[in-house]
Amino acid sequence: MTTHKPDTQLETPGLVFPTGFVWGAATSAYQIEGALDVDGRGRSIWDTFCATPGRVVNGEDARVAIDHYNRYRDDVRLMADLGLSAYRFSVSWSRIQPLGSGAINNKGLDFYKNLVDELLSYGIDPWLTLYHWDLPQALEDAGGWPSRDTSKRFADFAAAVHGALGDRVKNWSTVNEPWCAALLGYASGEHAPGRREPAKAIHAAHHLNLAHGLAVEAMRAQHADSRIAGSVNLYAVTPATESEADQDAARRVDGLQNRFFLDALMYGRYPEDVLADLSHLTTPDEFIQDGDLAAIAAPLDMLMINYYSRFTVSGAPGGAQSAAAAPTDSGSPWVGSEHVGFVNGGRPVTSMGWEVDGTGLYEVLTRLAREYPSIPLYISENGAAYDDVLTEDGTVHDAERRDFIDTHLRVCHQAIEGGVPLQGYFAWSLMDNFEWAWGYDKRFGLVYVDYSTQTRILKDSALWYAETIRHGGLRG
Ligand code: NOJ
Repeated sequence: MTTHKPDTQLETPGLVFPTGFVWGAATSAYQIEGALDVDGRGRSIWDTFCATPGRVVNGEDARVAIDHYNRYRDDVRLMADLGLSAYRFSVSWSRIQPLGSGAINNKGLDFYKNLVDELLSYGIDPWLTLYHWDLPQALEDAGGWPSRDTSKRFADFAAAVHGALGDRVKNWSTVNEPWCAALLGYASGEHAPGRREPAKAIHAAHHLNLAHGLAVEAMRAQHADSRIAGSVNLYAVTPATESEADQDAARRVDGLQNRFFLDALMYGRYPEDVLADLSHLTTPDEFIQDGDLAAIAAPLDMLMINYYSRFTVSGAPGGAQSAAAAPTDSGSPWVGSEHVGFVNGGRPVTSMGWEVDGTGLYEVLTRLAREYPSIPLYISENGAAYDDVLTEDGTVHDAERRDFIDTHLRVCHQAIEGGVPLQGYFAWSLMDNFEWAWGYDKRFGLVYVDYSTQTRILKDSALWYAETIRHGGLRG
């Protein structure tokens, strides 16, 4: 357990991070903004999904969320109080292009210009994500991500946002967690648009990768000094036993979850074994066109990694279907490997039921350094949901979340010492927010939000994170 002291002197050398290490926190547009019907915003697939009975716990929606659209100035001040050096947020496509293509809605764009200016006025570096799952409904109506055209629409959107904000935002990422957008959206149906079409989900995954590549190309043509990242959610994956069936199941899960996206982004290829696992559903000639893979592998300035947990995999079905598994009725996201199962690895779990495993992050980071070309790495999300209690004196003693982040930061430090080019860490999330199919049931924030009053309260983890940032590291 970390000792909590208010002074600014480390009594022991502690674990000091390299100068310039980025200390951040992250959110996404749909999860925090609210204000869905104002200033010309168009409809997104999540609006439709939330309005469909049975999709989101307690029938909740993001109409108000945490009202960040109206409270962004206060929220930025809070970031400044915490001493964040960077803030990762996403822009809502439907605010900027209400129908997903065509004319720009300047009022929508202005919100992000104002947000960025506010951040810069406090010396907080804005890290902008272009797509965090809220596809304009009009594009879904035209086929959604299984349709190739969506990738091109995204590149146009990226160019428009980058053209407008590229002078003041230096750090860009394209598609957040394409695995989730494709497999939870189009295979298991746990996320919007809630389709269960396994082959189409693979096409969606390819088109999300292609969207990334085309967007990189479009942005490169504009501001040469932008730093551009791809963003993936990676897991440590281990077989439940040494049996051949369990090892094959682990290979499959690692293949679809990690290698399918990493190999595409970093090497411009899809792993042969994964394509073979999928071949009874779809074959590359049905979704890959000439030039796609080269476009997807457009050189990047950095890679952003979201890390939460480890999968322990068995060759027999059962257990949680995915770390993001929704509480609602859903299919399997493990396209082509529906027979695999997930077993409990015996570690403590968060309130999502996800096992806490810092060692897994070490494995992910060192694997990247070992198996992929060297590129600056950032943890763009890491954090945990716990059942926070707001005490009578108005505080939240979330020791488990603090320990979770502490553990993972220690691992980051260890990886850096070992030569992994890790250059920053963004806690997920800055504030409690709309956790997709789980609604408001799961709290990931460093900052507690009282949803009835929209009051923001710094949890103990936030105070501890602020102290960590001030020290530039952890106590020994
Ligand atoms: C990943 C997603 O990017 C984010 O939107 C989500 O809230 C967290 N994981 C926690 O599930």
